[in-house]
Amino acid sequence: MNFSDARNEILQVLSKTERQDLPKLLEWLKTSDDLDDCLVDNQHVILQSIAEDLRACLPLEAVVPSETMAIQKTHQKPHPTVHVDAFLYDEETVDSLCEEGKMSRNYCLSCGSHRTALLDFISHSFSISELQFLFQKILPDLTGQLVVDVGSRLGAVLYGGYLYSAASQLVGVEISSEFIKLQTMVMEKYGFSDRVQVIHADVRSQAALLQNADVLIMNNVFEYFMEPSDQIQAWQFISQNFRKKGALLVTVPRIQEALASLEETVSLEMLTLSQWIEEVPLDYSIYLKNDTDPDSLKQIHLYRVLCPS
Ligand SMILES: C[S@@+](CC[C@H](N)C(=O)[O-])C[C@H]1O[C@@H](n2cnc3c(N)ncnc32)[C@H](O)[C@@H]1O
Repeated sequence: MNFSDARNEILQVLSKTERQDLPKLLEWLKTSDDLDDCLVDNQHVILQSIAEDLRACLPLEAVVPSETMAIQKTHQKPHPTVHVDAFLYDEETVDSLCEEGKMSRNYCLSCGSHRTALLDFISHSFSISELQFLFQKILPDLTGQLVVDVGSRLGAVLYGGYLYSAASQLVGVEISSEFIKLQTMVMEKYGFSDRVQVIHADVRSQAALLQNADVLIMNNVFEYFMEPSDQIQAWQFISQNFRKKGALLVTVPRIQEALASLEETVSLEMLTLSQWIEEVPLDYSIYLKNDTDPDSLKQIHLYRVLCPS
């Protein structure tokens, strides 16, 4: 059935619906989980298939043994926290793993008792819904543009950008060789290599790439993976090299929040953020899917580079 036929059928159903039930029906159309299956697009199915392939290659917590700092920092959180990768595990998958007893949303307040409290979850990847929000709602048409993902990890941003945008080139820079192997495996299997490339490097060695980038994505890149002094150097390097006028920077969390813990040591040059970038306000109320966590979307911030290149 094409759009016009479907619309006529819906209008007929609406005209036959009792008047007092119309608002309820329209609200259901706008918000119900029952319609989620109709909203799943082909790209979403491909991303789910990639997530399934990657889940088979990684332990449940999706952290590799060499990530000692990330493991330590997660354990040091004031509230009990576990890493659940949002690209690999959507809400539905988490629910089924909890039912099977393989994952838990709770921890025990006193050992042996039934008193439990909710665990905090953190994710080192964007979820599929966040990728859709990023490439379909936040960013403009990316035809002819170079997108760079700093710390590309499982490659979620690269695959999302390939499927949901017209970006000409998507380049991931990742410091960990284990994740480079996984990204290469996915790119080859799904035929993404014509527009996607991954570089095994510290972003601090990639001046030319940053200078050419039109869009830079930074999803909580440094906090769990680098000492504060290295984080400061990395932010300085980025602010000195990512300077193409009008280029777009996406950060999670807000850039001021990412820098807050590094406060006193961040040099004056870095703190003159207002001369480097300006924030672009985002509309977070856009409907995606009902399982989208609105709080995680609100962590995504967009900035435009002001200074001349
Ligand atoms: C939170 S993950 C981001 C994942 C991915 N961009 C996404 O949004 O799905 C951060 C990644 O950055 C990598 N990383 C940390 N510091 C880096 C650096 N200096 N250069 C390159 N990669 C780095 C880490 O190994 C980790 O895999």
